[in-house]
Formats: sequence, structure tokens, C-alpha cells
Amino acid sequence: MNSQEILDDIVAAIRPQLGKAGAVANYIPALARVNPCQFGIALRTRDGVEAWAGDAMTPFSIQSISKVFSLTMAMRLAGERLWERIGREPSGNPFNSLMQLESEQGIPRNPFINAGAIAVADCLVTCGDDPKSEMLALISSLCDEPVHIDEEVAASEAATGFRNVALANFIKSFGKLDNDVCTVLDVYFRQCAIPMNCLQLARAVNFLCRDGSHPFSGVQVISARQARRINALMLTCGTYDAAGEFAFLIGLPCKSGVGGGIVAIVPDTLSLCVWSPALDASHNSLLGQKALEMFASRTGLSIF
Ligand code: DON
Repeated sequence: MNSQEILDDIVAAIRPQLGKAGAVANYIPALARVNPCQFGIALRTRDGVEAWAGDAMTPFSIQSISKVFSLTMAMRLAGERLWERIGREPSGNPFNSLMQLESEQGIPRNPFINAGAIAVADCLVTCGDDPKSEMLALISSLCDEPVHIDEEVAASEAATGFRNVALANFIKSFGKLDNDVCTVLDVYFRQCAIPMNCLQLARAVNFLCRDGSHPFSGVQVISARQARRINALMLTCGTYDAAGEFAFLIGLPCKSGVGGGIVAIVPDTLSLCVWSPALDASHNSLLGQKALEMFASRTGLSIF
């Protein structure tokens, strides 16, 4: 497989479609200003071969992709106890929905919807020493470059994140959030506000195609079993109410973010990241999804 040629071809096919459909997330004011006409793609193989094309070096807000790293930390810290507070079923609902929390007594369906990621952040506050610094340290080590929090994006979401405030309070009302709502949301909003580029993200999730082992040091980040479980959750829940469509069209574990990024894993083979800021109705990157479809059909790579 000539990875560079494939990525170059995908960029050439996607470029003419930029700016034609979809819309950037505007419910977080700092994200509404992003130019939608951008597209990047990068991959890293299990053995460390890298390729990238288009705007792969332009940083963007990772948003919900951060939920992969927070889940990794929580699985490390809390082990099986984590699942007393969070389910493992697809929600079939939008990422920020409140509906199921009422009927399911404050137990979020999975760790990737916002309610679930808030429950994960609560676990990190309980079990960790300094979750924000620990998350930055983990991501920086995984991508071998320092990463930081964009405080403007974090403040912008904190000022307008009414649904997340509602979700956290709702979980708390069922006695299923141990820590102060503001403390938990502070972790959650800041983890979402980390800027990274496609290559950094392809590196940072590479441990998921290596049975949990660190892409540079080879040390286990998590066990092989835990890595398989994160991949399973990404496939079934990583793109919210579009997870079935992603499995059908792409056939790879994926995790999206409203900044327009999507990471995908080909177990035992490679990790990749695509980015284009304009989103579809499910809040997944429209052209990012198309690019992943092209990649899967061109390479024949799929978990099925
Ligand atoms: O909590 C939010 O709404 C955002 N910080 C993250 C949501 C998100 O990225 C959903 N992904 N497609």
C-alpha cells in the first residue's frame, strides 16, 4: 500500500467539495469563526510509518476526540469500577441529549456521549491528582510533542455550555456524580479545548492499533484487552446517532469531535485522523466521513 499516494488522491478528490455543504459548529462561539474550507488527513502505521496530506499540520479543537484519552485514563485509574456509573450501549440519540438520563436514573448510556464523558471526568477528579495536567502529559507523550489547552475556547464553551451544565446537574441529582459540578465541568471543558493537528492525533491514538502499547516507547498505555474495548466503544458509540452508518459505510472504530476531526483505527495495522470543520446533522465532519469512506474502499481495510 502506498499510503502517501492514497492520501494525496483523497485530498485531490475532497478539495473541490470544500465549502459546498455542512456547517461549522456554532454553539461554541470560538469554533464558529473557523474557516470551513479546510481538509487534512494523516496516518501512522503500527510500525511507525507516517504519511499526511492537505491541511494535516493545521491545529484544530479536538473537542469530543478528547473523550478517547479521558476514557483511557479512567480505565487505567478505576478499572472495572468505572462501569458502575457508565453503560456501554449506543444511545441512538444526539451527543448532548438529556432524555435517556431520566429513564436510566443518571447512568449515561456510554462514555462518548456528553453525559458519559462528564461521568468519566468525575471519575478522573475522584481518582486522579490533577486530571487536566495528567491528560496533557498523556497526550503529549503519545504524540511526542507538547500540547496545551486553548483557554479562549474553554472559556467560550464554559460561558455557553448550558446543556452540559444541565447534564452534570441531572447526573448529580441521581447521586451519581461524586464531585462538585463546576470542578467536573472545568475538566471536561478544558479537555475538549486542546488544539491538535491531524498528524499529532494519528500518533496519539496509535496505541489503539498496537494492542495498547505506546507508539514511541512501547510501554503498555493500557492492556490489550482494554484497547480492544475502547475500539469496540468507538465503533458502536464514537459517532453518536450515526454510529450504525459509520460502521456500514466505513467499518472502522471512529471517534469524532465538533471541531471537525475524526480519528479511526484499523486494529493491528494503523491509526488515522481526518479533519474538515463543516459538520453534518449528527455533528460529525461531513467531508471527514467521506474521506474515511474513500480510504476504506481504496485500501479494503475494515474490521469486517
Ligand atoms: O460538550 C460539547 O458539546 C463539546 N465540547 C464537544 C461535543 C463534541 O465534540 C461532539 N462531537 N461530535
